[in-house]
Amino acid sequence: MISADEQKAQAASEALKFVQEGMLLGLGTGSTAAHFVRQLGAKVAQGFKIAGVPTSIATEELAKEVGVPLLNIDEITTLDLVIDGADESDNKLNLIKGGGAALLREKVIAQASKHMIVIADESKLVSKLGKFPLPIEIIQFATTITINQIKLVLEQCGVKGLVMAIRQKDGKSLITDNGNYILDCQCLEIPDPETLCIELNKIPGVVENGIFPNFKGAKRTLILGSPNGARVIEI
Ligand code: 5RP
Repeated sequence: MISADEQKAQAASEALKFVQEGMLLGLGTGSTAAHFVRQLGAKVAQGFKIAGVPTSIATEELAKEVGVPLLNIDEITTLDLVIDGADESDNKLNLIKGGGAALLREKVIAQASKHMIVIADESKLVSKLGKFPLPIEIIQFATTITINQIKLVLEQCGVKGLVMAIRQKDGKSLITDNGNYILDCQCLEIPDPETLCIELNKIPGVVENGIFPNFKGAKRTLILGSPNGARVIEI
């Protein structure tokens, strides 16, 4: 048996095999992405040439610490590959992300990338999204209005047993890297992730939500660590 953290490290090292010299990489956020950034740093130290763009301030700090060269996001339009973690993936590779409160920058980078590799321990693969509370980034203004509108949309999209709370950290509402709140929505099950993603983003106070639908056209690969070795899933 190997631990969840060992599975994360295993998935990260499998993802590293997809990285070619000269690539421009999106660097995800969270403990699994951190394994990848550290492993990439070790490769860079041996002379391997790539450049990265971080999806959070935490990842930026880690990348600098381990010597991964970074580019300014405003200097680029597309990336070759983004490697990021996930809180859940269904078997169509639709994701829930945002457990690390970085979903907005993660989605900007993912949508600008030709290929997204999602790395995770095997517990993240689920038959239906929604057990992990869906994070939604909302503005600080008029939260009562925004939360009420989110509740209506979630109910219209078939979510039952809904519980919502603004994420707290150190006794205060967490503020994202972009100056917003995260609303965590316990949905239990999300019947139609793609529709819910679109409908939530129509609410003016919603900046972005943590559903990453696997839209046709963009390449997505899921790499799961497991006691029997890394599993690579592409559909
Ligand atoms: C951050 C994320 C993370 O990728 C997600 O929460 C998974 O984290 P971990 O790798 O620590 O399990 O979406 O916003």
